[in-house]
Parts: sequence; structure tokens; C-alpha cells
Amino acid sequence: MAIAPKRKPAKAAAKPKRGANELHIFKGLDGVTVDETAISKVMPETNSLTYRGYAVQDLCAACSFEEVAYLLWNGELPDKKQLAAFKRDERKRRELSKDHMAVIRKFPKSAHPMDTIRTSVSYLGTTEVAWGGEPPANDRRRAMDLLAKIPTMIAADYRLRKGKRVIAPRGDLSISENFLNMCFGSVPPREVVRAFDISLILYAEHSFNASTFASRVITSTRADMYSAVVGGIGALKGPLHGGANEAVMHMLLEIGTPKKAEAWLRRAFKTKRVVMGFGHRVYKWGDSRVPTMRNCLEDLAAWKGDRTWIEIEDVLENIMVTEKAIHPNLDYPAGPAYYLMGFDIDMYTPIFVMSRITGWTAHIMEQDSANRLIRPLSAYSGVAQRDIIPVAKR
Ligand code: COA
Repeated sequence: MAIAPKRKPAKAAAKPKRGANELHIFKGLDGVTVDETAISKVMPETNSLTYRGYAVQDLCAACSFEEVAYLLWNGELPDKKQLAAFKRDERKRRELSKDHMAVIRKFPKSAHPMDTIRTSVSYLGTTEVAWGGEPPANDRRRAMDLLAKIPTMIAADYRLRKGKRVIAPRGDLSISENFLNMCFGSVPPREVVRAFDISLILYAEHSFNASTFASRVITSTRADMYSAVVGGIGALKGPLHGGANEAVMHMLLEIGTPKKAEAWLRRAFKTKRVVMGFGHRVYKWGDSRVPTMRNCLEDLAAWKGDRTWIEIEDVLENIMVTEKAIHPNLDYPAGPAYYLMGFDIDMYTPIFVMSRITGWTAHIMEQDSANRLIRPLSAYSGVAQRDIIPVAKR
């Protein structure tokens, strides 16, 4: 059942539009609490985010992405034995079938990797028979399969697009090491792997964001997990959501040098251009994930010996915060971090997918365990009811 808004609707919804029948319209569902979740808590008043009660920055400092995936699905961090079993299970599922690889080989080289990963996950769904409203008893197994196989799908497509040989997954590497190896042909230094792993932890979960909510809506119809994940990927692609990490890097490249940053921003203000990587629907005073990712960006810049992107970002951030009171979000440091790691820009949002699959699947299982069809109302604003004039007389 829909729960009434708990807090005062945020700015955009502060004056709800009166629609037909005097209904209050919360455009963009701004400020509306639609259900409960025990998976994560976003606290804009203290700029903090917890997964199952643990502060996300503490998880980054103390845990691997695998431990966080376990936590999101099970509600508790694993002990040694549980983690070993989890890793064994994940690692043995990484290979794709020959048929699946044949599908990936057929993708146009020009396709955006968000479109290929969406289609690839959808293909995986076709290999399961007899959907039709049966209880999703195997969803934990499906979630593990998706966690294990999505990196293989993304990396295989990445190599093929570049005309390179596909590198098979290795069972002796962590999720991050294995993905980096499948993309680049070797495991990079420890600080790079750690920065990548931390980015996966930070991207893993964020309550009822647009893609997670899309997955929950699909699940609420009792559709299968693959359909819900495909819907999530579609929603994540947009530049107002996951696609922002790519858009940030395009913006930084367009600016080019720190010296040009201020003039670029002043022009952006004049033309009312959205500055990518800033602002958030929920966080209005900063995003708690940013400092952790920013530290990783510093490490990567030192590793590469290139502070250009950090310096441009600092100029933009100072002006955005002091003059507009709009703060950077996670995509702001993540975009240049992936650039310094050596990824093509169109890989950034697919990397977000290989992380957020943990949050999406946790939400899909939660939705399913206490389901009610999600079906909001709309206020009709079209023409009044009228009679049809036969075509000959129109
Ligand atoms: N650049 C310039 N102005 C921005 C801005 C940005 N990135 N983000 C918000 N604003 C401005 C809006 O124009 C609006 O100004 P106004 O009151 O003069 O109209 C005000 O700040 C409030 O923002 P609003 O659009 O109501 O916020 P929202 O909750 O609807 O939108 C985002 C949130 C994320 C969609 C929006 O901040 C945005 O487009 N950011 C850039 C994309 C991005 O980084 N997305 C990743 C999100 S994690």
C-alpha cells in the first residue's frame, strides 16, 4: 500500500500542481515515499548512506565488493567460511555459453555497450524456460549468475568492439581483478584494483533511485528477474542517472584545461546548461560517497602522473558550491577515475551495471517477498469526452 509522504516534498514538489479532481501531483514522484526497504538508507540531512546499517565509507575502507554483495543479499556481512563459499559459487559461474558468446559476437561494433549489455542480459533470460508467474524460488541463484556473468559479457563485448581477442574469466581472481584482466589483458597495480573495487561498492546500492524503482515496478507485476534487470539497465542509461559518469568525462574533455574551466562554466550558466555530475534528487547538501571516490581519484592521478581532470573539477566545484549551492555527486569523481584507469568513456555506465546488479537484485527479491502491484494514478489533462464523427463526415 502506498505510504503517505513522510517529509516535506523537496523544492520541485513544494507546490504540487492541482490536476483534475483536485489531486495533488508530485511530478517526478519528488518527496513521495512509496514503500519500505531494509536494504539501504539515504540520509540527506547528514549526507550519509548506509547499506544494511553500515556506513558506505566504512564498507569501502574495510570490505571487498564481494562482501558487500553478500551483505546486500543476506542482510549481514559474511564470516570467513560464508565468504569463501560465496566466492567459490560466483567464480564457477563466470563463463558464458558458446551460444551466448555467438550472440555477443553479432552485436554491431558501433552499438553503445549499454545497449549490448541490456541485450546480453535479456538473452540470458531466454535460456530459462517456462516463465509464467511461478514463484521466483531460484532468484538467489539467478542473482549470483548475473553478478558472475555480467562482467564477462561487458568485457567480451569491449574486446570484440576493439577487434581484440576475448579473454576468458579466471577463477583465481576477485571480481574486480578478473574484470580488469578481461578488459586489459593484465591485472593492474593494487591501488588501481582497489580504486575500482571501491567504485563498485559505492555504486552498488542507493535505495529507490530511478533504475531500482523501475526494476521494482517490473517485479511488482510478477515478471521474472531478468525482465526487471533489463528494465533497470534501460533506466540507468540516461544521462540524468547512470549515464552521468560518461557525460562528466565528455564535459571535462570539452573543457580541456584547468585554465579554461571558469570561462566554460560562466558560459554554461548563461546558456542554462546542466553541469554534469552536480546535483541530486535527494542529496541537496552533498553526496557522502564523493570524498571516498575523490581519494581514489587522487591515487589514480598520482599513479598516472596526470592531475588535469582533478584541477578542472576543482575549479568547477568551487564555483558551483559557492555560487549555486549545488554539490557534486558520485559520478563527478568516478568519470575521470575510470578515464585514468584506461577505460573508453562508453564503458563507465556498463561498469555501474556490474555493480548495481547487486542492489537491483536485492530490491527485486525484497519487492517479491512483500509484493503489491505498483500502479499509481494520473490526473487526466486531455480533451473532455466527445462523440466520434464518422470518417466520411470529418
Ligand atoms: N547543473 C546546473 N543546474 C542544476 C544542476 C546541474 N547539474 N542540478 C540542479 N540544478 C539546478 C536546477 O536547474 C534547478 O534550478 P532552478 O531552481 O533555477 O530551476 C535547481 O538546481 C534544482 O534542481 P532540480 O532540477 O529541481 O533537481 P532534480 O532533483 O529535479 O534533479 C538531477 C536532479 C540529478 C536530475 C539534476 O541535478 C541534474 O540534471 N544533474 C546533472 C546530471 C547528473 O549528474 N546526474 C547524476 C545524478 S546521481
